[in-house]
Parts: sequence; C-alpha cells; structure tokens
Amino acid sequence: MIQNDKSQFLNQVKSSFLSGTLIRITLSKSRDKTTDLKNIYVRPVKIKSELHLNFLYRYPNKDETKNYLLDEALSSFDKYLGADFLEANLFTSEKDYILLFNKKRKARLLSKPPSSTSIPDIHHNKQKQRLIKAENNPYLKSLGITGSDDQVLKSGQKKFKQINKYIEIIESLLKQYALPKTPKIVDMGSGKGYLTFALYDHLNQNHGMNAQITGIELRPQLVEFCNNLASEAAYQGLNFMAMDIMDYPSSEMDMLIALHACDIATDIAIAKGIKSNAEIIIVAPCCHKQVRKSMSPKDTFGKMLKHGILLERQAELLTDSIRSLLMEASGYRTKVFEFISTEHTPKNMMIVGMKGKKKPSAFETVTELKNEFGIEYHYLERLLNL
Ligand SMILES: C[S@@+](CC[C@H](N)C(=O)[O-])C[C@H]1O[C@@H](n2cnc3c(N)ncnc32)[C@H](O)[C@@H]1O
Repeated sequence: MIQNDKSQFLNQVKSSFLSGTLIRITLSKSRDKTTDLKNIYVRPVKIKSELHLNFLYRYPNKDETKNYLLDEALSSFDKYLGADFLEANLFTSEKDYILLFNKKRKARLLSKPPSSTSIPDIHHNKQKQRLIKAENNPYLKSLGITGSDDQVLKSGQKKFKQINKYIEIIESLLKQYALPKTPKIVDMGSGKGYLTFALYDHLNQNHGMNAQITGIELRPQLVEFCNNLASEAAYQGLNFMAMDIMDYPSSEMDMLIALHACDIATDIAIAKGIKSNAEIIIVAPCCHKQVRKSMSPKDTFGKMLKHGILLERQAELLTDSIRSLLMEASGYRTKVFEFISTEHTPKNMMIVGMKGKKKPSAFETVTELKNEFGIEYHYLERLLNL
C-alpha cells in the first residue's frame, strides 16, 4: 500500500512513541484564525505509569496544556495537520522529520539526521513545570540561554534556573499583592536584561497584563542591545534607558526591582522605590563595601572581628539587616531569604518589601546596631534622610 506523506509522518510519530525514541513534536505555521492558537508543543510524559503525549497549546496571551493517550493524540495530529498547521517537526533520537504543506495543502515529508539524541525524562510528576518556557521565546535565544532547537543550552542551564526561580518568587508575591492590569515597573541596574525580559514575558503571557517595564542601566551598549531585542520580540511595553539610577526621577511605580546591583546601587534603588511609593520592592544585593569601610568595632566585637574575613562577613550581614530595618521604618513589611542555592550563584540573598505600616521601633534598632558595631553611617539612611 502506498502511503501519503502525512500518513508516513503519523506512522513515524507512532513508532517513535512506542519504541521510546520520540523526543518532541512541534506544530507551527498556524492557519487557525478562530482561536488564535500559535503553536502546539508535544512531548511524551508518564502519568501514573502510563505513557501519554503532553500537548502545550500556545496562544498569544496564555498557554494551555492537556495529556492524551497515543490514539487520541494521533487523531488530533490528523485533524490539525494540513488544516490548522502547515508545518510539523518530529524530533526523535534517530532522525528528525519535517512535514510541510504547500498552499494547495499537499504534504511533503523530509528527514535529516537527529539534531539531538538525548531522550528527555518522561516522568510527568518529576518534571518541573517552569513558568518561563524554553520554547518559542526569542529573547532566550538572543541571550544565549536556548539554542536554535529551542532547548536550554548546557551553558544556559544555571541562568535559566535562576530566571525561573526569580519568576516563581514574583509569582508568590503577586498572590499576596495583586498588581494593576497595567503595572509600572522599574528594574534598576538591568544589565543584559535576563530578568527584565523574563518578568515582562511572565506578566504579559501568563497573567495577560499589559506591563510597562523600564530597565535602567549605566552601560549604553547593554541598553542598545536590550532595546533592539525588545523591538525584535515586539515587547512594546518594555524599554531600557542608559543612565545612572541616582538620576532617575522618583515617580509613581508599582514595583521596583534591583538584582545584583553593586554596593550602594542597591541602597539607591531601595531609596528610589520608597520615595516612589512602590507597592513592592525586590532587591538581591551584590557586593558590600560601604558599611565595612565605615565600621570600626570596639571592645568585645572588636576582638571578635579582628580577622578580615569575619569583619567582612559581619559587615555584609549588618548592611542587609539595616536595609531591611530601614525599609520597615519607612513603611514596608520585609522578608529576607536565600532565593537560589549557592550552587547557582553566590549572590543569593533577597530582600523583599511590601507596602505596610511604618515601624518607628525599627529605626531605633538601627541606631543600637550602629552604636554596638561602631558603624559611622549606612548609605541608605542618608538617602532617606532618616
Ligand atoms: C551584576 S549586574 C546585574 C544585572 C541584572 N540585574 C541581572 O541580575 O542579571 C549589575 C548591573 O548594574 C549596573 N549598574 C551599577 N550601578 C549602576 C548605577 N548607578 N546606575 C545604573 N546601572 C548601574 C551595572 O552596569 C551592571 O550592568
């Protein structure tokens, strides 16, 4: 019996699924005008020890996912291919197959050596559902996190994990503090924009928001790179400005973030967030120099901290403790925690402030700490004129 190209493709799906060589399937070139469905990404998963195919349906503003047994999945492919989608890619550990439909909906099946031979972990429950998906996210490619096959590169694994962890934290904060539909967010010291892009993607794709995010960065080359990337991705609400965060005018904003901004840049960012009345302030401090330089502990603490490394560690702890206390004194409830294990980055402490009531006693604690440890001043205190 002569098989047409579409049936051959479906047979390859079936045999690779049954032989355990199927990696994933992508349906693209959507012609579906009624629902706006852009792509379907399919991968094998094991649910309660039975093998299924997981379909991820990607729409402009949301993702939906569903699991099918093989026969149901094949019927779906049969329905979609040549009607709603004009291209399908099947990746197996033995070969890659491409099914293309022309304008007259005539199918052509091509094959080539496999782009990957590693079979993914198919245990559904063990697989982490990431809020930021590797597939079809052009900024992840430009930032060198994913490769041309939409898979996370080995060199991008740590950053991808860090981005997702950070988005998970934002997600849990949003459960406590709902942002408006068009939130105004400022990212101070945005660097190459990894987290700025991920946040924009998450708020708009997963929450259907119309986020307005501005990244502030000293280095003009990075700002140009990020603005080009934002316009390529058609992220209209995302823009970057080349300037010192100190010069950024305090203006209304819903959320302030500053991740790994060096030394006093973290203090400047916190002060800008407080003065701009931000509902949420999220900072992950980087290097700490200012407090250590203005600290000369005496008596018992002087003896305890006579070794440079101990003084340095103590100064870091004091820097961040005083930051959180000053935020409390200024009307924020704070949380300080490790946001990703040290295996991924040594700069792993996060301070989150959420708008609440002013706590004057926190300021008294700052004064006590300064006296006990012989600290002349904390830069944030000066910025806040406390
Ligand atoms: C370690 S990078 C972190 C980048 C990004 N937030 C991230 O976590 O991937 C810190 C960035 O802050 C920028 N920066 C430091 N001080 C700044 C200032 N006063 N104004 C604007 N940007 C600043 C640096 O140029 C650098 O790109």
